[in-house]
Amino acid sequence: MGSDGMHHADYTEFHGMAREEILETVLDSYNALAEGQDNWVCNLANASALLWHAYRSLPLDINWAGFYVSKGSESSELILGPFQGKVACQLIKSGTGVCGTSFQSKKTQVVPDVNKFPGHIACDGETKSEIVVPIVDNTGRCLGVIDIDCLEYNGFGKADQECLEKLASAIANTCAFNN
Ligand code: SME
Repeated sequence: MGSDGMHHADYTEFHGMAREEILETVLDSYNALAEGQDNWVCNLANASALLWHAYRSLPLDINWAGFYVSKGSESSELILGPFQGKVACQLIKSGTGVCGTSFQSKKTQVVPDVNKFPGHIACDGETKSEIVVPIVDNTGRCLGVIDIDCLEYNGFGKADQECLEKLASAIANTCAFNN
């Protein structure tokens, strides 16, 4: 229990809220949890839990929510980070798949149908749509990506992009990555 009497599990209560409101709550909760904490494993593990429970509270069937982080200083590859969902690919080369494309271009990829994305990496063959958001620091370096997968087509849109980009920026400002 936190010092204010709030259980940390309360961060994942989203009854009756609209998607935008839920995603804003994720952002606020992340900022509260990361206060005084800059360890990236700790913060991204909690961010994965926040995203998973937020999206699972919606009428939207997501099957994976988590992170890939830059492996080494040469930034040619991503390695699997904290996540919720099924076992996933461990390494993704910069420029390949949805994650590697977002990492290399430093641009959010909203993919309504993964079958139409050239080079999509199918960690789970059931995935139909995906959103990947780059985490870019204030020197312009891409530290990693947020990745969320969905079992439905057109799972993600503008509201997701806007809020996840704010979360990515909060992550870049609060986490010390050791590579
Ligand atoms: N589909 C991703 C790979 C990561 S998994 O979805 C967890 C991609 O094409 O980069």
